[in-house]
Amino acid sequence: MKNKHDASFWNKRYAGDSYLYGMEPNAFLVEHCGLLAGPVLSISEGEGRNSVFLAERGLDILGVDISVVALEKAKRLAELRGVNIRTELADLATYTPRENFYGSVISISAHLPGGIRRRLYPLIERALKPGGTILLEAYSENQLARDTGGPGDADMLMSVEKIRKEFPNLTPILLRETERKVSEGHGHTGMACVVQFIARKAD
Ligand SMILES: C[S@@+](CC[C@H](N)C(=O)[O-])C[C@H]1O[C@@H](n2cnc3c(N)ncnc32)[C@H](O)[C@@H]1O
Repeated sequence: MKNKHDASFWNKRYAGDSYLYGMEPNAFLVEHCGLLAGPVLSISEGEGRNSVFLAERGLDILGVDISVVALEKAKRLAELRGVNIRTELADLATYTPRENFYGSVISISAHLPGGIRRRLYPLIERALKPGGTILLEAYSENQLARDTGGPGDADMLMSVEKIRKEFPNLTPILLRETERKVSEGHGHTGMACVVQFIARKAD
């Protein structure tokens, strides 16, 4: 089935000079960034706010996204802040991250259809080095009742059960659904239901 949230959908969303989700990093990432080690892979990086933040902390980071417009803006933000980030234009439906290579993977609001997740997530587990960490925040299925952000499609929203099932080989450090105020540009604004996940790959 065709994914309606394709490259052209996202390129249109990101058109213009303003940053759809702002220039400041995701709050959950900021709170737990001390757990991350490089190299870091950021899936669905968008306009660079999270990559730039991690680069400012000295981490080597690769941001992957399907939107060329987003990645151009990410590079501009990195230049503005005087840091270096690497980006790769790719569709996560077919992307294969380098195996046994990453100290961390981050996934911030990377809402993907279940079919894509079920192919990609085992590859993410494989891409982490032993002892590597994943940090993920996504809107939960309960966000369907709200209009403060996220795709209006239950299949693309997360739950604690989905996370458990889709990352069976990682050991959770934190896994919860919670409500929090999200204030990220025009794209994510207001009280929201999110799933938060941090987990380690065995040494
Ligand atoms: C809600 S935005 C989040 C962006 C960024 N992580 C942030 O927190 O600012 C979702 C991102 O996923 C990207 N995306 C959606 N489907 C994708 C796919 N199949 N492959 C790669 N990126 C995709 C979009 O281009 C968009 O940048």
